Amino acid sequence: MVTAGNNIQTADPSNIVIFGVTGDLSKRKLMPALVRMLCCGLVHDDSKILGVVNNRSEEVWLNLVREGMQQFSPEIIEDEEKWQRFKSRLIMVPGDLGDETTYQRVADALVTLDGKKNAMFYCAIPPEWYGTVTRGLHQAGLANEEEGYRRLVIEKPFGHNLASAQELNKELQSVFHENQIYRIDHYLGKESVQNLLVFRFANSIMEPLWNRNYIDHIQISTSETLGIEYRAKYYEKSGALRDMIQSHIMQMMTLVAMEPPVEFTADAVRDEKMKVLNAIRSIGPEQIKTDTVSAQYASGTVDGEHVPAYVSEENVSPESSTETFAAVRFYIDNWRWQGVPFILWTGKRLQEKVSEVMIRFRRPPFNLFNTHASIPAANALVFRLQPDGGIVFRLNAKKPGLTTDNETMVMRAPYADDTEEVADAYEILMHDVLIGDRTLFSRADEVETSWEIVEPILHAWENRVSIERYRAGTWDVPAMDALTRDCVGGWHKPTVHKKPA
Ligand SMILES: NC(=O)c1ccc[n+]([C@@H]2O[C@H](COP(=O)([O-])OP(=O)(O)OC[C@H]3O[C@@H](n4cnc5c(N)ncnc54)[C@H](OP(=O)(O)O)[C@@H]3O)[C@@H](O)[C@H]2O)c1
Repeated sequence: MVTAGNNIQTADPSNIVIFGVTGDLSKRKLMPALVRMLCCGLVHDDSKILGVVNNRSEEVWLNLVREGMQQFSPEIIEDEEKWQRFKSRLIMVPGDLGDETTYQRVADALVTLDGKKNAMFYCAIPPEWYGTVTRGLHQAGLANEEEGYRRLVIEKPFGHNLASAQELNKELQSVFHENQIYRIDHYLGKESVQNLLVFRFANSIMEPLWNRNYIDHIQISTSETLGIEYRAKYYEKSGALRDMIQSHIMQMMTLVAMEPPVEFTADAVRDEKMKVLNAIRSIGPEQIKTDTVSAQYASGTVDGEHVPAYVSEENVSPESSTETFAAVRFYIDNWRWQGVPFILWTGKRLQEKVSEVMIRFRRPPFNLFNTHASIPAANALVFRLQPDGGIVFRLNAKKPGLTTDNETMVMRAPYADDTEEVADAYEILMHDVLIGDRTLFSRADEVETSWEIVEPILHAWENRVSIERYRAGTWDVPAMDALTRDCVGGWHKPTVHKKPA
């Protein structure tokens, strides 16, 4: 839990309206984040949480909330006073999303706080409902900001391809102004991602190195040991490219590659991110073969347990060629990054669960010290996003003893030590919505442009008849070695640093 420090803006009291308050996201993330935010003052004490609930009595809903808290915020349930304080903020609004009267009930239930009816509408619902909810809010006059701010939060996926993303944006923007829409990407809410920005722009020694003159290539990755769990229905239609690269990983790429914004405000930052997306070289049919990799997990062993192949997972077609591993080599055609490969990759059922950004510098031009030894290893700067967020710098140093041979020295800077509190991404992002800061949210043009960039790959992959397989629990994707052959150090397979017991 984060504490509201000196430089944290206190939000005005608000009506926090959650559509889908009985779903998985609300239970695991939103309600625990809200309760912690209330306890530490990130949510104004007078705020109300309005849950739109279908086919359940208030008693049943409150029991559901309590059960969720028991699982995900047990410290609140163990403290009766805190639970009662949280419970007193909850208001149930009964209704089906498809019923117009639901939105009128929401309007009637909004509480006037400090003379205003500020409201944040959080859509924790299946994306096919976004349009209906937007229209419903409009018809009930709830997009109108005369009585207080009205902010709409939607969860990814923001469309399934370029056409559906454009359609969704059109629908949302026909009711809400773009500056009322908050497209949430919880990756950008992670403190370690924000640390990347601070590290880049608060250290003047970084800027001279941050370009094609010193950087050989960059790899941005998220690997998981888990399979698709219960998400087969969604994943079969999505695949790894849509699920991770088009959204989270491309967003991280824009933060790594963008020019310094003139100020740390929403549009200044997002304008710079957009320039990066606009400069990405388009991927033609030839590049699909040379610059992309797709693969799917076969059965294998993870943490000592046998796990099934993707095609044997529940609700997955045995003929499925959906990719559970995807990689793309992008080039950014601008002055800073010309010729520097950006390799974005992600996969499920790999050997380690790690998200990181790895900046690989060029090798020293020759070995000054020892003609028998090879040229020292290229330096690497790694931003570990999870687990154990922090920064690792790999440098070369002299081996101890009567020699000038070198060896790699690893400098680690954990993001936070064990005594420091790291805020959950949802706490940060919901607080940003409440104070009206859109910096960490995706703008419509960013979403559409990133779909435009990956669409040729999606089309090419749609028509494939077979797919490479890799053994679960391994890094057994040989095509990645080919993709990174010309990169110094090749494919960077992250390892998790085991803390001493
Ligand atoms: N779960 C995650 O960790 C996660 C992560 C990232 C993004 N997301 C996104 O967040 C959204 C919600 O995901 P989820 O996993 O929480 O889904 P979920 O568990 O299926 O929950 C969906 C919620 O929507 C409600 N709902 C559906 N149809 C309704 C209707 N006609 N009237 C009223 N309520 C209705 C459900 O109510 P009932 O309980 O009455 O069915 C439930 O509360 C999705 O867009 C998903 O892509 C989720």
